[in-house]
Amino acid sequence: MASSIGKVVILGTGGTIAGTAASAQDNVGYSAAQLGVAQLVAAVPALAEGSIEAEQVAQIDSKDMTLAVLHRLAQRVQAHLDRPEVAGVVVTHGTDTLEETAFVLHRVLHAHKPVVLTAAMRPATSLQADGPQNLLDAVSVARAAGQGGVVAVIGARVWAGAELRKVHSYRLDAFSAGDAGPLGWIEEGVLRAVRMWPAAQGLGVDALPATDEAAPWVAVVTSHAGARGREVDALVAAGVRGLVVAATGNGTLHMQLESALRRAQDAGVQVLRASRCAFGGIVGDSTSGWPSAGALTPAQARIELVLRLHGHTAAP
Ligand code: SIN
Repeated sequence: MASSIGKVVILGTGGTIAGTAASAQDNVGYSAAQLGVAQLVAAVPALAEGSIEAEQVAQIDSKDMTLAVLHRLAQRVQAHLDRPEVAGVVVTHGTDTLEETAFVLHRVLHAHKPVVLTAAMRPATSLQADGPQNLLDAVSVARAAGQGGVVAVIGARVWAGAELRKVHSYRLDAFSAGDAGPLGWIEEGVLRAVRMWPAAQGLGVDALPATDEAAPWVAVVTSHAGARGREVDALVAAGVRGLVVAATGNGTLHMQLESALRRAQDAGVQVLRASRCAFGGIVGDSTSGWPSAGALTPAQARIELVLRLHGHTAAP
């Protein structure tokens, strides 16, 4: 019988890790979120060597993520973390919005134990399926970590949840933490950590609106060649409350877009700048006066602005 010491709870939400295709050679024409979390666990016999519990929280392609699912996921993770017999929680998830979920959990959870997100770039039916090893590695990290915080384990690397970004659409090593690099590696079940895990920020699950309908409307606009700013005026007229601008380079804005953003700000809309560069974020203080999201991706900056407008103003 498996030991009850160091129980790891695995929460399933869908994604390619739970995806299937008609052919084992098909790595793109598959359906995500087809297998239940119990099937994912059963496919990795080594998991039976420790105490495991599995729960299906959602079954979606993560492109369709909603605040209702995020809110329920955060509630379930927190409830399991608070059980004395639980050593850590693993979440299986799609890769496409993993950086947003990781950032949400980092901001809201009281993660005094490890919360380890994992995913896969190939469906479970693929010749190259990466899900089973990623799941085993995630459970090993949850057991070995000895510290709290939200991380992601994919491709044998451990990433900080707040720093995570998807940087490749197809390759197995699709994730990065930008210049920060990984927190460590997981090799044959052994965690080799190279730096401390950032502590989760513990705003509490209720810092997150419970549904998209209950959330302040925050949209993302992009600064680009030929920007006119008319989409900003249209969004303000339609009632948007926050705008994240995916800015060029180190946070610069096309002059036409900037004029429209000033009009939006004068109308009471909060604006937050993130860089549209894959690496680097926005460095240093700008003289522009526009608030900066630092190293957050535009999608993470959008979550941050939702949290702020929902009632919290702490910086990331
Ligand atoms: C998803 O994000 O749910 C589908 C794509 C993936 O997991 O790679």
